[in-house]
Amino acid sequence: MLRCASLSKTYHSGGHRLTVLKDITFHVEPGSFVAIVGPSGSGKTTLLGLLAGLDRPSAGTVHLDGEELGALDEERLTRLRGQKIGFVFQSFQLIPTLTAVENVQVPLELRGEPAAARATELLERVGLGGRGHHYPAQLSGGEQQRVALARAFSTRPKVLLADEPTGNLDARTGATIIELMTELNRDLGTTLVLVTHDHDLAALARRTIRLADGAIVADSAA
Ligand SMILES: Nc1ncnc2c1ncn2[C@@H]1O[C@H](COP(=O)(O)OP(=O)(O)OP(=O)(O)O)[C@@H](O)[C@H]1O
Ligand SMILES: [Mg+2]
Repeated sequence: MLRCASLSKTYHSGGHRLTVLKDITFHVEPGSFVAIVGPSGSGKTTLLGLLAGLDRPSAGTVHLDGEELGALDEERLTRLRGQKIGFVFQSFQLIPTLTAVENVQVPLELRGEPAAARATELLERVGLGGRGHHYPAQLSGGEQQRVALARAFSTRPKVLLADEPTGNLDARTGATIIELMTELNRDLGTTLVLVTHDHDLAALARRTIRLADGAIVADSAA
């Protein structure tokens, strides 16, 4: 489902070169549930961005469902993302001028699918049934996180990539979200790749990939 080979990422800024990912190679089977863990700054968010085609690697390749992301222009990449990937950013990235329910509808509307009923249902699932008409600024961090999750789930993506999806949630809300993600993984066969510091969440994953200083230092499936 997802395959990356010899992936590297180097940033150039202020005359300095900073290599944040080095020679990353792994393969994620369809329907699997993988946790990516590692200390702050180890390259987790950078890796997730490369897997989603939101950013381009300095070297190496990413294949999503058989297609090499590096070979696609921006338009085709955007279309592929819309068809196959749900993405939850560490910083949510909701659209501030749209209400919660409108934010959840965006990916469905981009595909020309009926959106209103599903968006309302998803907000109920994440415990925000009564808050659909609120704007992101009127929601707490954890509530925004839940809207971002509902948005990522809206299109029933083949792959859900999520950057610390329970990072801003209390234990009980976090448990609801974890339940929703494992249900999706089990019932729809959605491939889950999650970056997490949450031990409960990492324990549910069938595989853990550990990064340190931009390299894979442990892979429980290897
Ligand atoms: N655009 C950029 N330009 C230069 N350096 C960057 C850029 N983006 C990220 N970095 C650096 O890359 C390294 C890895 O960052 P990344 O965000 O992937 O870490 P992370 O593992 O997600 O950390 P955290 O757990 O704190 O979210 C960090 O040292 C960061 O400062
Ligand atoms: Mg990060």
